Amino acid sequence: MRSMDFHRIKLLPPYVFAEVNAMKAKARAAGQDIIDLGMGNPDTGTPRHIVDKLVEAAQNPRAHRYSASRGITGLRKAIAAYYGRRFGVDIDPETETCVTIGSKEGLATLASAMTGPGDSIVTPDPSYPIHAHGFLIVGAEVVAIRQLPGEDPSLPSGRDFMEGFKKTVETASRKPLAVILSYPSNPTAQIVGLDFYGEMVDFCRHHKIYILSDIAYSEIYFNDMPPPSVLQIPKAREIAIEFTSMSKTYSMPGWRIGFGTGNKDLVRALTKIKSWLDYGAFTPIQVAAAAALNGPQDCVAHIRQLYQGRRDVLVQSMAAAGWDIPSPPASMFAWAPLPKGFRHLTSLEFSKLLLTEAQLAVSPGAAFGASGEGFIRIALVENEQRIRQAARVVKKFLSAGAPEVKPVSAEPPPARKAANR
Ligand SMILES: Cc1ncc(COP(=O)(O)O)c(C=O)c1O
Repeated sequence: MRSMDFHRIKLLPPYVFAEVNAMKAKARAAGQDIIDLGMGNPDTGTPRHIVDKLVEAAQNPRAHRYSASRGITGLRKAIAAYYGRRFGVDIDPETETCVTIGSKEGLATLASAMTGPGDSIVTPDPSYPIHAHGFLIVGAEVVAIRQLPGEDPSLPSGRDFMEGFKKTVETASRKPLAVILSYPSNPTAQIVGLDFYGEMVDFCRHHKIYILSDIAYSEIYFNDMPPPSVLQIPKAREIAIEFTSMSKTYSMPGWRIGFGTGNKDLVRALTKIKSWLDYGAFTPIQVAAAAALNGPQDCVAHIRQLYQGRRDVLVQSMAAAGWDIPSPPASMFAWAPLPKGFRHLTSLEFSKLLLTEAQLAVSPGAAFGASGEGFIRIALVENEQRIRQAARVVKKFLSAGAPEVKPVSAEPPPARKAANR
């Protein structure tokens, strides 16, 4: 029997970025200078005082032992203090938060802790791949509901998803176990207000459905309204857990540290399964993460400004190149409709063309779900000068026009198949 025949492996499509990544690697190996706005991988390095804390903590041999799988007390207290300061939410560090090895690990591990035979969950479509795949891997059915920003401008943000979700629940023979919410959204940058969370919490409490919120981009916003937390809704903690990440807020993607906070039963389930699976993140990383949360926050403002500057350069320079890209209100991504003249191509075909003809790497929208077709995601992970350079090559590329014949196969990318389930 080959490894690809294993039951769970067969549930997994190849990783959605794999095809474009393979082309990117080949182009680089051939000596091409690829401007890489594909993966959401922060490029700026972690602020100095956080790195210094890691180095200091790593000098202590006691810190080299196995750590605590649910997180060291100091970090859990720092998380509770963050929730108090930022959202006005009172969290018990003993029972209402659990440290994770990045929020991706937390989401996937909780999925395996929660899911039983016949369970289904609901995700927005498009959405960050682990939202659906964390559950698909453990055998849940995933119902993906279309959610695109501003499709009907007369509706408040998130309304279409809310209506689709309510209809799904009210007509289901068996209620979904959980719904995933994630704002600011990766990939679409969509944000919602507290009224959205309030209505969701009321509805989900009534139907006994858990809410799994992912606020990885909560600190990357560009207007005067910081994105709220679902836990600000007074009764949310009866049903909701929220995952937060250090990766984007403090530019710490490689450190692998995040946390899940909220409902005690969900935190207990996450803590219990993690106690079987791992010994926690390396203690010096946890010490440094606590220093990041407790320390000066001007580095966060700086990171926010950096993405805002890049966003403005991207939107302006691409518009001048002939490609209108809506300005994202938050996150580190722009969600761009395929340019006019290229809309007969799939998002994967267009992404491949952009890579081969303009040496620019982006992510195909369909990689995030069927409703992402017709869009690409641009990550703001190169500096302003490189983004301007990208706009110059795009201008040339657009003026050459689209190829008449489709350049690559129209096979739907794997995530689309998964998102249709
Ligand atoms: C919405 C969302 N959630 C979670 C993650 C993963 O974050 P972490 O590095 O904490 O695992 C990402 C990473 O891109 C993301 O976009």
